[in-house]
Amino acid sequence: MINVAILGFGVVGSGVAEVLSTNAEKIAQSAAQEIVLKYILDVRDFSESAYKDCFVKDFAVIENDPSVQIVVETIGGVGAAYDFTKRAILAGKSVVTSNKELVATHGHELLELARTKNVNYMFEASVGGGIPIIRPISQCLAANEIFELYGILNGTTNYILTQMIQNGVSFESALRDAQEKGYAEANPSADVKGFDACRKICILASLSFGSQVYPESVPTEGIENISLTDVEFARSAGGKVKLLGRSVMREDGRIACYVAPHIIGENNLLSNVEGVFNGIVVRGNAIGDVMFYGAGAGKLPTASAVVADIIDSSKHMNMRKYIYWEEAKPEMMFDPATIVSRWYIRTSAGLSQAKKVFGKVSVLVSEGAEFETAFITERMSKIEIEALVSGFPVLSLMRVLD
Ligand code: HSE
Repeated sequence: MINVAILGFGVVGSGVAEVLSTNAEKIAQSAAQEIVLKYILDVRDFSESAYKDCFVKDFAVIENDPSVQIVVETIGGVGAAYDFTKRAILAGKSVVTSNKELVATHGHELLELARTKNVNYMFEASVGGGIPIIRPISQCLAANEIFELYGILNGTTNYILTQMIQNGVSFESALRDAQEKGYAEANPSADVKGFDACRKICILASLSFGSQVYPESVPTEGIENISLTDVEFARSAGGKVKLLGRSVMREDGRIACYVAPHIIGENNLLSNVEGVFNGIVVRGNAIGDVMFYGAGAGKLPTASAVVADIIDSSKHMNMRKYIYWEEAKPEMMFDPATIVSRWYIRTSAGLSQAKKVFGKVSVLVSEGAEFETAFITERMSKIEIEALVSGFPVLSLMRVLD
């Protein structure tokens, strides 16, 4: 029998409790032992909850109970979650989490601590919600040199963009809806401004390339400036606007990561990843392209990944699972602004002025935007396009994913 404690009874934490009880028999079979929810740490009042007997308000109760072998951290953020994770590991307990901010910010340190204490630190749910991606990269694709990863990594923003594209819903109304459905972060600006996707591409890049990539080293743009007009122009080009996190390895072995909205063509594997779904494309030198797809946010999909880690951890109590990356190597990084692509530009200037500045362009036509011009440039780096647009009246600028 394995005793588990959940820290934080929010959307994900309550989902973990629900999956543990609903699927108890199947989980016990997979883990080859019973998994028992012993404690839930939350300062709020849950006296009416079906789990009311499990609640404690003091982490020390869990920390000092040697019968608790796995701690599930679903608090989020890097405050109490960081402190409790370290204390749990130091007390000899394995920790399972969905907390992408903590893994992206302190992953190396916590993995190192887990290694020294011979316990597990597992975070399948931190990227892609319910999609298996951490385990596939660290195990199933371990034979590959991974040279590119890109994906739709945030369910909330993909939900908002899908609502805008398919139903012409305004940004604000789509965001409200995503919040009500429990997809958005406590502070939804982490979704909208791209920080959540940034944390996730950092985790995937750290795992794939073997050294920590910190969020502050990753240029990040969100979707707050994307308008319905951009969505319409993209459609006229046979494309869709998607927020992508991307990590690329150059031939010299250096890597770059960034997060930004892109126009992707309808033939791209990610083009039909809609709503709260996420899709991640991994390019390996033996496998070629492989895509992972599924529910990227939400209570039960995320809980599904957390509980899988609980099961895996329970089966690796004495011989921990090897998941690890080293400290950051800044000399291994290159500037993503040097990556070339075509660019979408929407402007209040006329076409002749645009052609003078950008040379050969493909013009886009959209009904209802007759006072604006939009076009796609030839391939160039971000450094080059930024030099060209300085002094030019740009309303919107986005990479086109080739
Ligand atoms: N807010 C996140 C998202 C939750 O929308 O993708 C899952 O990490």
